[in-house]
Amino acid sequence: MALTNTRLEVMNFLEKKIDSFVEQYLIPVEKIWQPSDFLPNSESDNFLEEVRELREIAKDLPYDFWVAMVGDTITEEALPTYESWLMEVEGVDSLEPNGWSKWVRQWTGEENRHGDLLNKYLYLSGRVNMREVEVTTQHLITDGFDIGTGRDPYKNFVYTSFQELATYISHNRVSQLAKNYGEKKLSKMCKMIAGDEMRHHHAYSQFVNEIFKVDPSEMMMAFHYMMKLKITMPAHFLRESGQAVGSAFENFSDSAQRIGVYTANDYVDILQKLINIWEIDKISGLTDEAEKARDYLMKLPSRMAKISERIVIPEEPFIFKWVEPATV
Ligand SMILES: [Fe+2]
Ligand SMILES: [Fe+2]
Repeated sequence: MALTNTRLEVMNFLEKKIDSFVEQYLIPVEKIWQPSDFLPNSESDNFLEEVRELREIAKDLPYDFWVAMVGDTITEEALPTYESWLMEVEGVDSLEPNGWSKWVRQWTGEENRHGDLLNKYLYLSGRVNMREVEVTTQHLITDGFDIGTGRDPYKNFVYTSFQELATYISHNRVSQLAKNYGEKKLSKMCKMIAGDEMRHHHAYSQFVNEIFKVDPSEMMMAFHYMMKLKITMPAHFLRESGQAVGSAFENFSDSAQRIGVYTANDYVDILQKLINIWEIDKISGLTDEAEKARDYLMKLPSRMAKISERIVIPEEPFIFKWVEPATV
């Protein structure tokens, strides 16, 4: 379904700044880090020794930690889904080499390194059933998922602003936890990934900022729509082998909350942060309907905080096929 012409006009207007967005928020291929910079070098004579050391340290990390890592890895590995969905957004033309598709391709290239690095680390760690992880990844890509944004660029940029910050939090917490357990190399890997996510978050939230300047009411309605719907993480659709779509999410989320990698409070904090960066309280020239949407958004974080206080997480981890309980 075609969206209003205004959205297309706004996207075309912003597209003129693509080169400056790319320059400001993305890093050229030749200058950015690569997964091999942080992994044991398989060409080196020390490779086996380094892997042995990695596997020893991995034994100290707890069950929920591995589950959270597996979920983070799989959602990064589902990258083909995100690229194909972003290429369908109104105003993004996949055949146009220098427009929004340039942004999408370069962003995809950066993101692709995340799953690559995490996958290799998991494989070397010896703590994870890689075949089961691979089956879940393939299921996620095969199933596809609807995050409720349609082809609307405004809704998509709300989603990506939120999602990039959520992944920043998640990778950064894994980094801190790994450091606490003495796994400095994994800590560094996740820190580098988290840095990318933060940079991407800045980019997408800047796009929203720019749209607020030229089409405030429609941008407000899109933000309202997405938050009323609730942001659905790709992890919502996870399933283990032989199970139904989405059946692994709740237990995965419990693991992530228990270990503190991503919690219901984080969701509320992200929402509040977006309200602050976009200065939702100060936006002027809104229609009556958009004013009401603004009121709803301003009150939403405290409402959600009350609900998240009541959430009870089971104490014992659910045992996934992805991760065998430690035998040491
Ligand atoms: Fe990522
Ligand atoms: Fe990301």
